Amino acid sequence: GLLFNGVRVMKCPVKDDPMTHLKKIYDLPMRVDDIIITAYPKCGTHWVAEILHMLTSGATEYSGRIKAYTMLEFCNDLTFLDTLTSPRLLNSHLYMAQLPRGMVDKKVKMVHMIRNPKDTAVSLYHHLNQSASKQFTFDNFLKGYPCGDYIVFSQQFDYLRQMAEFEKSHPDHPIMHIHYEDLKQDPAAIIKELSQFIGTPASDDFCQRVAAACCFSNMKKVDPTRERPECLRLLTEKRLEIYRKGVVGDWKNHFTVAQSEAFDEFLAEQKQKGFGFTPRGEL
Ligand code: A3P
Repeated sequence: GLLFNGVRVMKCPVKDDPMTHLKKIYDLPMRVDDIIITAYPKCGTHWVAEILHMLTSGATEYSGRIKAYTMLEFCNDLTFLDTLTSPRLLNSHLYMAQLPRGMVDKKVKMVHMIRNPKDTAVSLYHHLNQSASKQFTFDNFLKGYPCGDYIVFSQQFDYLRQMAEFEKSHPDHPIMHIHYEDLKQDPAAIIKELSQFIGTPASDDFCQRVAAACCFSNMKKVDPTRERPECLRLLTEKRLEIYRKGVVGDWKNHFTVAQSEAFDEFLAEQKQKGFGFTPRGEL
């Protein structure tokens, strides 16, 4: 497969060819007050994006569109990002080595979402199945189908390892890691911490209100009305449902004992290489 900065290139549904687009992302001018959400797909990008939108705007008004328009690899016209007012909320699933180099120079704040790999796999399975022309089984998914050149769940560990390596080589870089499970368990506390991390500490009361406004049922309710950006329409005609179930441990409803054991074996192999981070929950 194609490599950019030594790392495999993921499918970018943009007009430019992927290498040109990745080069543009790498050269993207950054601002010191940018905030970027970095996460492997399905770890909770939309959720934390909405929370950050509320924290930076100071209002618990749902934005809904934030993610799709500001995901670097899906943003067809990156000059659009120049038109945003500061602080910009950007996001990306790209590996560390492929993110804008200006991020490193300017010490741009990173919010990194982590999620239990079994739940991430289940979420990704449903997500990919929605856009697939032909439905596939969970078993086929676990065996690597139908991702081909796209995102495969095993890459979650490459992603985490690269994140950990980056952190090690850039100990001064401001990064806040958020586990999906922690955010689910005590959203107000994590939101409070997040507000301090981005330099605008919020009151307990405001954090409670943000937590309530960003609860799963609220986000699911508002989502269907949102406008679909061109990049997503290029990817699929279908309107993908992001807000599926929003719970911890749904993997138990999907994995058979045999599948879970096979996955555990895979996890044990990954662990030998070093996870970088220990996700929450049973592994
Ligand atoms: P499920 O498929 O398990 O329901 P991403 O935004 O990175 O694509 O992640 C999507 C996952 O986050 C989905 O998981 C989605 O339901 C969940 N999610 C989104 N908003 C949420 C919220 N407010 N509370 C809990 N989970 C949420």
